[in-house]
Amino acid sequence: MLSFLNKQEKGWVGIDIGSSSVKLVALSKRGKNLALDSYSVVPLPASAVIDSSVQDVGQVSEAIEKAVKLCSSSLKNAVTAVPSSAVISKKIELSSAFTEFELEDQIKLEADRFIPYPLDEVALDFEVLGPVENSTAEMNEIMLVACRRDDVEQREDAINGAGLKCEVVDVDRFSIERAYPLVLAEAATGSELVGLVDIGASTLTLNVFKNGEIVYNREQAFGGNDLSNVIHQQSGMPIAEVEHQLRSGELSEEILQTLVIPFRSTVSQQVSRALQFFYSSGPHNELSKLYLLGGTATIGGLADQLQAEVGVITETANPFVSMAVDSKINPSRLERDAPTLVKACGLALRCFEQ
Ligand SMILES: Nc1ncnc2c1ncn2[C@@H]1O[C@H](COP(=O)(O)OP(=O)(O)OP(=O)(O)O)[C@@H](O)[C@H]1O
Ligand SMILES: [Mg+2]
Repeated sequence: MLSFLNKQEKGWVGIDIGSSSVKLVALSKRGKNLALDSYSVVPLPASAVIDSSVQDVGQVSEAIEKAVKLCSSSLKNAVTAVPSSAVISKKIELSSAFTEFELEDQIKLEADRFIPYPLDEVALDFEVLGPVENSTAEMNEIMLVACRRDDVEQREDAINGAGLKCEVVDVDRFSIERAYPLVLAEAATGSELVGLVDIGASTLTLNVFKNGEIVYNREQAFGGNDLSNVIHQQSGMPIAEVEHQLRSGELSEEILQTLVIPFRSTVSQQVSRALQFFYSSGPHNELSKLYLLGGTATIGGLADQLQAEVGVITETANPFVSMAVDSKINPSRLERDAPTLVKACGLALRCFEQ
């Protein structure tokens, strides 16, 4: 076999900075085959990230440094993302005759019109999507993406402060789109609608896909923090210990029966609510399938309960099923953590797109 066909491409580390923890995923590629080399999840203090915004760069940096050590990854380059809710994106049409410099100036002019902050506080990016179909003049369709410079810089600083080099700050929804084909157990047909619902510590996000692209995205302020707080109040255990026991499955049978299992119904109601918002947003077909992502989605039996209550086939997401997995990774721990790693996985995939 020709050796270059089997050459291993090392990637960038995908870093998902959530409100409760930092998730790090390192992938590599041999030919077309992806491999999971390592991953880690490191809890964050409650004050580090609030409402998807980095409040304490130092605390986030420390967690990333710890996550890198746990992975014993030699990778030095990283990619992270700002939340979709912090981003304004808009498709515009501009003449294809502009040079690159002219295009940048035009884009700044356009951006100034619809962004509600002074442009010097804004990080701006764009992608030329291609010629506008059926247009008489030579026009290109351009996706313009803007967010507050602070949101980008705090994440970059946290990563660079941990000794890595932040190569790209992406947008959440693009990372989920990238990971989507890996999450699908079987390919969806062009017209099928598939939902991916991410239930984290403080936010529930419903993404609906059609033809591999997100056609609907909405966040709700809800997550596993509600459960952790109740367990903390009722048992007196410190929050960090509650979080540890939730993840490792060490909670007592009494807490499981009296607090965790009833919370499953609360989660189910919140997902139903998210679906109702989606169905009432336009004349949509029913979803053909629903995948659960995020730490709160790992509550035992949630997929079955949701399937029964909302009437849509529901599965817990695992983007690693068709990947080679490094022998150092514990398979049962990976199965438990996989739904929380979807975003970090989509971020790690970013560098193979270059
Ligand atoms: N087995 C479990 N049962 C119930 N809840 C769990 C379990 N494992 C983790 N969780 C909860 O999942 C949440 C963490 O999930 P995740 O890592 O996806 O959140 P995050 O990305 O940090 O938050 P967000 O996306 O909202 O900013 C915590 O609230 C934690 O208590
Ligand atoms: Mg999250």
